Amino acid sequence: MALFGGAAAPLSARILPSATSASLSLSSSSFECLRYSPRISNLFLNQRRVSEVRVSSRGYGSISAVASDPDQLKNAREDIKELLKTKFSHPILIRLGWHDAGTYNKNIEEWPQRGGANGSLRFEVEQKHAANAGLVNALKLLQPIKDKYSNVTYADLFQLASATAVEEAGGPKIPMKYGRVDVTSPEQCPEEGRLPDAGPPSPADHLRQVFYRMGLNDKEIVALSGAHTLGRSRPDRSGWGKPETKYTKDGPGAPGGQSWTAQWLKFDNSYFKDIKEKRDEDLLVLPTDAALFEDPSFKVYAEKYAGDQEAFFKDYAEAHAKLSNLGAKFDPSEGIVIDGSPNA
Ligand code: HEM
Repeated sequence: MALFGGAAAPLSARILPSATSASLSLSSSSFECLRYSPRISNLFLNQRRVSEVRVSSRGYGSISAVASDPDQLKNAREDIKELLKTKFSHPILIRLGWHDAGTYNKNIEEWPQRGGANGSLRFEVEQKHAANAGLVNALKLLQPIKDKYSNVTYADLFQLASATAVEEAGGPKIPMKYGRVDVTSPEQCPEEGRLPDAGPPSPADHLRQVFYRMGLNDKEIVALSGAHTLGRSRPDRSGWGKPETKYTKDGPGAPGGQSWTAQWLKFDNSYFKDIKEKRDEDLLVLPTDAALFEDPSFKVYAEKYAGDQEAFFKDYAEAHAKLSNLGAKFDPSEGIVIDGSPNA
């Protein structure tokens, strides 16, 4: 198996900046009478979407909306688009959404113990998990938007930013819904070790172990891996990749790292074409990427996506929406659709 990009061991210890936030405590018992009923209108619901502002020095937990407001979600999406135009942060925002959702364990029924898309990654304790190295930078980018739209939950904001980033990079429209409820304290974060390793002894077995635990199947594993068509790996974060290549030395955004594809801000099917060929030493192939063309079941989908971008986009959009909903508790329970298009 030819691997490009080196296989340094993941870093075990990292120091991440700690966010401090002073605050006051706001919450309104006068809204208690409006307790949840999925049938009542959005207008009515919005009245009880008051924000709680709580003291936290343990992460980006200062403002936690009870549930998201549709108009604020739409406005936040426009702000995310503007952010992407100047920061080119599409890849890291997608990774943020994936790492919040990907802790889901389908064998645990209780929320939030089951993990998933619940905003827990805003807390420092989870940012310090080795797999999340560098994601504090994504949080820093989103915090001003969170501050502006206090009635958008972190859980929704992470998934909104990720889906918007895919779409703005030229990828498919994701059939998203919103209304995810946030966890409220670091004690509710999942334990470390639920996300996949890039270089385990048996990559295909490992991928199945981790993604089947989330309730995802082989097709979804391969389709979702296609998100690596965007972005870079950095040795000082994950331990994987070259410090820089001809494709990354000038940015855009912060220069450096090793990308999977030459045009690493364009969402297309070149990830599958490039890892199949393995011809360019400046492009990254992780052991878990290589497994997609080595395992007989994964290979069916990887070959299909290398030859048919439309098939990739269709399967990716469905799998991304499913990933974004994992473990989430929705309020209202049917979720909020902000596009006027049918949701997943
Ligand atoms: C299949 C198992 C996966 C493994 C082992 C894996 C591993 C990695 C690693 C090691 C990095 C480099 C991080 C860094 O050094 O900053 C990375 C980056 C990335 N991953 Fe994955 N990943 C997997 C699945 C996914 C999935 C399912 C998605 C999204 C749906 C995703 C999206 C991304 C993106 C967009 C980046 C680039 C981040 C950036 O440029 O800052 N990955 N991944």
